[in-house]
Amino acid sequence: MTEHDFIPNIYDTNVEKGSVTWESPSNIALVKYWGKKKDQIPENPSISFTLNHCKTITTLEFSKKEDHGSFEFEVYLDGDKKDDFKPKIHTFFERVEVYLPFLKQYRFIIKTENTFPHSSGIASSASGMSALALCLMNVEKQLIKSDVIVGAVEEDFDKTYFNRKASFLARLGSGSACRSIEGDLIVWGETKSIEGSTDLFGIKYPYKVHENFKEYQDTILLVDKGEKQVSSTVGHNLMHNHPYAQNRFEQAHQNLEDLKGILESGDLKAFNALVESEALTLHAMMLTSMPYFILMKPNTLEIINKIWGFREETGLHISFTLDAGANVHVLYPKSESQEILQFIQSELVAYCQNWHYICDQIGFGAELIKNE
Ligand code: DP6
Repeated sequence: MTEHDFIPNIYDTNVEKGSVTWESPSNIALVKYWGKKKDQIPENPSISFTLNHCKTITTLEFSKKEDHGSFEFEVYLDGDKKDDFKPKIHTFFERVEVYLPFLKQYRFIIKTENTFPHSSGIASSASGMSALALCLMNVEKQLIKSDVIVGAVEEDFDKTYFNRKASFLARLGSGSACRSIEGDLIVWGETKSIEGSTDLFGIKYPYKVHENFKEYQDTILLVDKGEKQVSSTVGHNLMHNHPYAQNRFEQAHQNLEDLKGILESGDLKAFNALVESEALTLHAMMLTSMPYFILMKPNTLEIINKIWGFREETGLHISFTLDAGANVHVLYPKSESQEILQFIQSELVAYCQNWHYICDQIGFGAELIKNE
C-alpha cells in the first residue's frame, strides 16, 4: 500500500450534519519510537501494548458550511473551550486534507475528555489523535455511498481499510497514535521480521503470543504530573545528527526480532530485560543528545531500584518501562498481580506525586460509542 491508496475517489452522498463519538486508548511502547523523518515516518519500528483504561472520548459534531475556503472548528476539553489546542489540530487538518477532502466543507465542534486526569503527565496525544482520526473516518464513511451487497468479505475489507486509514491519519497527528486504533499488540514501522509491517500505519502483531502475556498489567506511577519538559517534536529532532542514532535504529530492528521469539515462548525474564533496556536506551538517547536532557526524577530512580530489589528477592516477573518523562510504567503478568500490586502499594506509591497511580492493563483498541 502507498499513501495514494488513502485518497478517496469520490464522495457521492450528501450529508448535512451529524455527530460521532469514539473512545480510543493510550498505548505503551515496548520497543520505542524515537526519531522520525518527514511526515511522521519513523526512523525505526516500534511495538506497543494497547491500554484498556487510559482513554480519550471524543465527540465530533459536523455541519455543512457555505464557504469552503478554510478550516472551521472549535475544541472543548471537559466542556471548556480550548483555543490553545487549535494550532495542533489545524496542523493535523492541513496534513490530512488531501486524504479527507471534505474537511473544508464542514464546520466541526470537537468535544473531548480523558479518563485519566489532564495533569497526570500521561500523554493524551496518542488517545486524542486516534479518537479524532476515527471520528473523521466515520464522517468519510457516511459520504461514500455503499451500494455493494455487503457480504462477510466486503465487511472485512471495509473494516480493514477503515482501521488502516484511521491509523494512517492518526499517525499524521502524532506518530504513536497510529498504535492506538486496535489491540492488543501493535507494530508500526517496516521491519523484515514482521510480515506486513509498514511505516504508514500500525498493524496487529501477526504471530503467536504466549498465554503469559494475556491481560498483562501496567500500573502507571505518576512521579511527575507537570507539563512535558521536552515536547515530542523537539525530542524526536534530537535524533538528527545524534552520534548514536544509527546504532539505536538498528538495535530497534534487532529487539523486535528478539521480542518475536520471547512473545512466542513466554520467556518473562528475557521480556523484562528487553523492555527495560529499551526504556533506558530511550533515556540514554536524551542524555547523549545536544542539547541534552534528564527526564527522570530522583523518584524515578528510587522506583527502578526498588523494582530490581523486589524482583531479586522474590523471583517475581516485575519490570518497568518509561516514556519520554519521569513516570514509571510497572509491567507484570496477571498471574502475579496480587503480590506485585501489594508491593506497589506498600513500597512504590510513596514516590508518586500525591500518591497518584493508575492501574491499567492490555486492551483491545478503540470503540465506536455513538454515530448519529
Ligand atoms: C517516547 O508519538 O508523542 O512515547 O510523532 O511527535 O507526536 P510525535 O511523537 P509521539 O512520540 C512518542 C515517543 C515515545 C515512545 C513511543 O511511544 O514509542
